[in-house]
Amino acid sequence: MNPHFAERTKSARRSVIRELLKLTEQPNIISFAGGLPDPATFPREFLARVAADEILNNPGKTLQYTTTEGKLPLREPLSRWFAEDGMKFPPDQIVITSASQQGLDLVAKVFLDPGDVVFVGLPTYIGAIQAFQAMQARLVGVPLEEDGMDLGKLAEAIRATRRAGLTPKFIYEVPDFQNPSGITWSEEKRRGLLEIARREDLVVVEDMPYRKLRYVGKPVPPLAALDEDGRVVVLFTFSKTLAAGLRLGALAGPKEIVEKVVTLKQATDLCTSSLTQRLAVRFFQEYDVEGHMEKICAHYRVKRDAMLAALERYMPKGEGIRWTKPEGGLFLWVALPEEIDTERMLLKAIEHKVAYVIGAPFFVDGGGHNTMRLSFSSATLEQIEEGIRRLGQVVAEELAAVRSPQQA
Ligand SMILES: Cc1ncc(COP(=O)(O)O)c(C=O)c1O
Repeated sequence: MNPHFAERTKSARRSVIRELLKLTEQPNIISFAGGLPDPATFPREFLARVAADEILNNPGKTLQYTTTEGKLPLREPLSRWFAEDGMKFPPDQIVITSASQQGLDLVAKVFLDPGDVVFVGLPTYIGAIQAFQAMQARLVGVPLEEDGMDLGKLAEAIRATRRAGLTPKFIYEVPDFQNPSGITWSEEKRRGLLEIARREDLVVVEDMPYRKLRYVGKPVPPLAALDEDGRVVVLFTFSKTLAAGLRLGALAGPKEIVEKVVTLKQATDLCTSSLTQRLAVRFFQEYDVEGHMEKICAHYRVKRDAMLAALERYMPKGEGIRWTKPEGGLFLWVALPEEIDTERMLLKAIEHKVAYVIGAPFFVDGGGHNTMRLSFSSATLEQIEEGIRRLGQVVAEELAAVRSPQQA
């Protein structure tokens, strides 16, 4: 049979990372590869209690369809939460989504025709790459510096896109503790990005799954709070702050964009789960939300500090070896000298019973072969210490091998 697949399936690839993760799931391997939040942070007892209560006593709201926009008693506290962070989105400019991955899929559907251009960081979140490529968009990568995108290169990339007769559509970024790099944009760069977006009349998609997970330093205003002419679309999720399995998040933005999103979401799933929305409503009504955020941040802060200290102790020092020091989120990013290929090195790492995620799939320009992502979220403090010790040894061996190949 010829299944006559659509064109878009031809460019869609399964995530290399998910394939490699299978390798790292062997017993005794200390894995910094997975990017999942630590289940210890999920408020299990609260969720179990309110789920039972909702199902038994509120079935009309919990077990029934709900509106495509999502429940108002959830959009209202979200709107207030956003406002505390300087983002002014009334409830009618918020649509509840099945977490932020659905938000990415919906912005892709709303904005992208085949061949349209999206500007993304080098590196960038793989799920975004997949969502945009599924709409047959072209992704143009712009290097990330320590404080955000290289804005000169972004402006040049937009000009080059227009010169080539292509249509630029939006800029996608994760300005707080980015997945994968851990980088946070400075306020200056955020303002600069908005200036470029205004000049070029482009939408900005601000994905903020980690924004609430800040462990050190002062928050920088979100792009949406600095936006003066309504061109920022925010993707929010409860995955890292409540529970990833709820598959619950929100998209907020200018009214005309939100309306289009709602129309396309109808075709996707009619509505996001009523049950999980009710759990989040109760979370805002009854839980000590701020106390919970502080607890999660304290939980991850210790792990982040442990990983940074272990890297300092065990990573070989020298030119070309550096790592980011994220102020929040779940990841840090290691760059090794050019002659190292982290995909090749992964086999050696697995022999040493430690695993990471290779950097290359996060680069839409084919670069990043010498980089890797480390997640500190799920490992214990002992595993972090021992795992980074093993990784330091792997890197030292690999460096020795590539620098004197005859002895390898
Ligand atoms: C930057 C970024 N965006 C979106 C997502 C999707 O998460 P979810 O769909 O659980 O909200 C992730 C998940 O890791 C992410 O890192």
